[in-house]
Amino acid sequence: MSERKKVTVRRFVRMKGQKKIVMITAYDYPSAHIVDESGVDSILVGDSLAMVVYGMENTHRITVDTMALHVEAVARARPKALLVADMPFMSYETGVRDALLNAAKLVRAGAEAVKLEGDYPEVIRALVKAGIPVMGHIGLTPQRYLQLGGYRKQGKTTGEAERLMREAEDLVEAGVFSIVIEYTSSDVARRITERIPVPTICIGSGPYCDGQVLVFHDLLGLTPTTPPFAKRYADLSKIIRDAVEEYSREVREGFFPGEEHYF
Ligand code: KIV
Repeated sequence: MSERKKVTVRRFVRMKGQKKIVMITAYDYPSAHIVDESGVDSILVGDSLAMVVYGMENTHRITVDTMALHVEAVARARPKALLVADMPFMSYETGVRDALLNAAKLVRAGAEAVKLEGDYPEVIRALVKAGIPVMGHIGLTPQRYLQLGGYRKQGKTTGEAERLMREAEDLVEAGVFSIVIEYTSSDVARRITERIPVPTICIGSGPYCDGQVLVFHDLLGLTPTTPPFAKRYADLSKIIRDAVEEYSREVREGFFPGEEHYF
């Protein structure tokens, strides 16, 4: 079997119109290894780790240094998948200089591209000029949930849909190599995908994007609740609970360690 090729930004962009792009989040070394072995095209160290790994209520408290630590762990798995890292809340909104220095931390930790939420063309231009590929993120942008009035579906009215179309075009013009479209109507996502030359990656925005992304913990049943648009492909919580219960029972009943486990 021929060895799988490293997915570079260039290869990722070329997938548009050729094959569906598969992206998944991962936040640590073992999960990065497993998802990469599964042959996904891209791994996102998302700031969703605030909620799914740290149990926080939102993504606001995650810092660039925490993100960098997780990016380093994922990068140590040396994934063939393109490694993208989220720029967390207030790491780019405060200006070009902050954005450059913070993105540099993520790139030094092993990120091959960064993702940022919203319409920041000046920042995107500066990052691209500095040689850092940028993925955009529009629609539901969780870092702005306070202003959006919660984690609500976006692009429902004609006005909102037009604004999203313009935002996508602005981002492309600023130099993004791809855009995540989160929780919009599938019609808006389809129109954006048809209009822009770079791959769109959907989460909760229907089937017409160039690719899909899901959060590792949602896909594998590691979170107590799953967003309405995510699909659970496994119930790892049950598998882990069953295994730990069996271990506890064996310790209590004297079956573990068995003869083969001590010397
Ligand atoms: O933080 C994250 O995991 C994300 C994805 C949901 C796209 O931004």
